[in-house]
Amino acid sequence: TKLKVVITRQLSADAQKLLDDVTDLHVVQWPSEKPCDRSWLLEHAKGASGILVMLTDKCDEEVIATAGPQLKVVASFSVGTDHVDRPALKSRNIRLGYTPTSLTDAVADLTVMLVLMAQRRGGEAMRAVIDGKWPQMPWHPFLLTGPQIRGCTVGFLGFGRIAQATLKRLVPFGIKRAIYLTSKPGKIVKEADGFGVPTESIGSIEELATDSDVVIVGCPLTEQTKYIVNAEFLARMKKTAVLINIARGPVVDTDALTSALDQGQIFGAGLDVIENEPNIQADHALLKQPRCVLLPHIGSAAIETREEMAIESVKNLLAGLNGEAMVNEYEL
Ligand code: GLV
Ligand code: GLV
Repeated sequence: TKLKVVITRQLSADAQKLLDDVTDLHVVQWPSEKPCDRSWLLEHAKGASGILVMLTDKCDEEVIATAGPQLKVVASFSVGTDHVDRPALKSRNIRLGYTPTSLTDAVADLTVMLVLMAQRRGGEAMRAVIDGKWPQMPWHPFLLTGPQIRGCTVGFLGFGRIAQATLKRLVPFGIKRAIYLTSKPGKIVKEADGFGVPTESIGSIEELATDSDVVIVGCPLTEQTKYIVNAEFLARMKKTAVLINIARGPVVDTDALTSALDQGQIFGAGLDVIENEPNIQADHALLKQPRCVLLPHIGSAAIETREEMAIESVKNLLAGLNGEAMVNEYEL
């Protein structure tokens, strides 16, 4: 009998072909471009040996238990794995694949974009033009000015692949120094001295908040990192500093960020993620803040990257079924 695999989205043509070429698979695939319904996933997970999910699909104990004891692999089309119940997989010896390699560059690019937009007020400036305010806003030496990146100390909360790729991109802008806080100091590449600016691991989150001109949140969402950027953290930040979040929304306390911006405690924010996304209405308090740039989770949304992620997740899925090495296996 053919092994059943469940795929919660339509994939790009190359990835689809990779999947179609495996003749001994029974592929059950969500038919639409919209996020997969949970009820559909629960219904079809039954009897699956492999499940390929997006970050919008909760792959929790219920899904995993519903699938049954033959489940061998979950492959996520994402670098973040907080939507997957990892302990539930580990206890059943189910392997987890994810896609960090293919998306690192695209997310690092977007992070640089957010840093520059937050410092140089890109969102605020464009909004003024769209709102027809330019005629009342003649050129002025200090019109829409913001801090310059040259000379900045950049602080990284989490210093994995994306953070390091971001640092490499920021060095040519003339930053002065990088500092980072990580839960995995032993795993940091030896390259730490090789970025072209002094780069040091610091032990305290307080110091990271106090010393940084740019704070970049790039850590996974865990119980330890939820709301790690809270009112206290924001109060320690420089008034001229910007906060960037390209990780997961709940790492930052949105209410605290909103009031920090209201009170001018920090200069601005650049967010690709936010708590409760995508349910953010146009009247959300943070959107009233001209100094906040908010993007709808498009960090890895480069065409080539999304195609590679699809291929990488299909390869991980197949490797998991065949007991072979994955492109990227998450260490559970
Ligand atoms: C995006 O947020 C991802 O985890 O891939
Ligand atoms: C984890 O905290 C990391 O450094 O990515």
